[in-house]
Amino acid sequence: MRFVVTAGPTREAIDPVRFISNRSSGKMGYAIVEAALARKHQVTLISGPAAIAPPKGANLVWITTGDELYGAVHAALPKCDVLVMCAAVSDYKPAQVSSRKMRKRRGAFSLKLVPARDILASLPKRRRYLVIGFAAETHDLARNAQKKLRAKNCDAIVANDVSGSETGMESDENEVTIFFDDGEKQKISRASKKFIARELVKIFAKMFEKGLTKKSW
Ligand code: CTP
Repeated sequence: MRFVVTAGPTREAIDPVRFISNRSSGKMGYAIVEAALARKHQVTLISGPAAIAPPKGANLVWITTGDELYGAVHAALPKCDVLVMCAAVSDYKPAQVSSRKMRKRRGAFSLKLVPARDILASLPKRRRYLVIGFAAETHDLARNAQKKLRAKNCDAIVANDVSGSETGMESDENEVTIFFDDGEKQKISRASKKFIARELVKIFAKMFEKGLTKKSW
C-alpha cells in the first residue's frame, strides 16, 4: 500500500528572521511513517521543519510553508492509497512578508494575517485514496473532531487532547480517539506515540482494504 504522511509544523515568514509556527514536534507523524515502513508499505513523508531526524526508508519531501505543503500533497496524490494529514498547518499567514528585517516600534503594533489554504478541504470529494485527518483539541474534543471530519470530508479523523503536557504536542505519549465517517469511533488509550502509530497504521490499512474510501467508480 502507498502511504503519504504529512508531519511537523509549517512556518510562515514575517520577515527574513521571524516566522509564525506552532509546537508540533513531528513525533506522531514520524512514528506513523516508521510503523508503515515496518509493515512494508511504501511511504512518502512530507515534512515541515521538525526537530528530530526523519525515519530512513521513506521518500522524503521537505516543505516549509503551507503553500509548499499544499503543492507537495497534490503532487503526491496520483501515487497515494492512504493520505495521513498529521502536519500542524498554520491557519494564517502574514498578508505581506517584509523583505527587510522589521524594526522595533514604539508601543503596540498589529500584524495583518490572511487565511492559509486548507489542504484537506481542497481535496476532491470523490477519490480513490483514503483521507485521514488529525485534530488537536484543547476542549470539546468529540464535538470539534466530528465537525472537522464532516467539514473537511475525511474518511476518519484522529483526535487528541493537547490541553495537558503529558500527551499530545512535543510529548512522547499520546491518547487518541478515531472518529470514522460512518459515525463509529475507537479509542486508543494512553501509550507511546510509537505504539499508537502501529495501531493506527493497522486500522488505516484495514479501512483501505475494505474500500472505505469515497470512491469515484
Ligand atoms: N489542515 C489542512 N490545511 C490547513 C489546516 C489544517 O489540511 N490549512 C489539516 C491538518 O493537517 C489536520 C486537520 O486539517 O489534519 C485539522 O487541523 P486543525 O488545525 O485541527 O483544524 P482547523 O480546521 O485549522 O481548526 P482549528 O484550528 O480551528 O481547530
